[in-house]
Amino acid sequence: MIKLAPSILAADLAHLAEEVEDIRRGGADYVHFDVMDGVFVPNLSMGLPVLKSLRKCTDMFLDVHLMIEKPLRYVEHFCDAGADLVNIHVESDSPENIRLALEKIRAKGVKCGVTLKPATPAEAAEPYLALVDLILVMTVEPGFGGQRFMTDMLEKLRALRRMLRAVNPACELEVDGGITPETAPLAIEAGASVLVAGSAVFGKADRAKAISDIRNSGTEW
Ligand code: DX5
Ligand code: ZN
Repeated sequence: MIKLAPSILAADLAHLAEEVEDIRRGGADYVHFDVMDGVFVPNLSMGLPVLKSLRKCTDMFLDVHLMIEKPLRYVEHFCDAGADLVNIHVESDSPENIRLALEKIRAKGVKCGVTLKPATPAEAAEPYLALVDLILVMTVEPGFGGQRFMTDMLEKLRALRRMLRAVNPACELEVDGGITPETAPLAIEAGASVLVAGSAVFGKADRAKAISDIRNSGTEW
């Protein structure tokens, strides 16, 4: 079954606990938590104190997407703050430090993942395929919600799904950016198993309907 991960970047952050409870009741699987440092991406969002507070008010799976430079410095803090999965960008540090950061996350008993920006080829994930629980393919330039889905990322999704079948078939393949009931079937058909959606969920009044409209829009690979 396809998993839905609403991104709280598009939620009313003054009422975060209620917003998360709303998507839990609406059938969401993960809470997608976007962290931006104003350096790796040209925007700032939320960080450790918000994650800690959120952990206290929900038992939902917290899927943390770090859009920060040199995440090795912070990954253990995000684990301690309550992340269920910590995802780092392959472009954010040297391959040695990316591997070290993944090992630190695993040593904390937390799931780990790597993310690829639109310009980064599928092969950049190759060294980490057997190490991770999830690979995230950005289908917009990271930094902002509400952008258009890049259909030219579908080929990358297909390539990663092929690579994972051989090495790590249990690994989730997540897409992030511009997911709607119209674009979700394309991502699912190309091999995605987890769909992040910000505006298409939190931008709607009826979150349960928004979640099921996206989830039921396509056939699983
Ligand atoms: C963008 C973030 C996304 C964003 C998605 O950098 O990583 O998670 O919230 O927003 P939508 O679904 O509106 O494109
Ligand atoms: Zn994200």
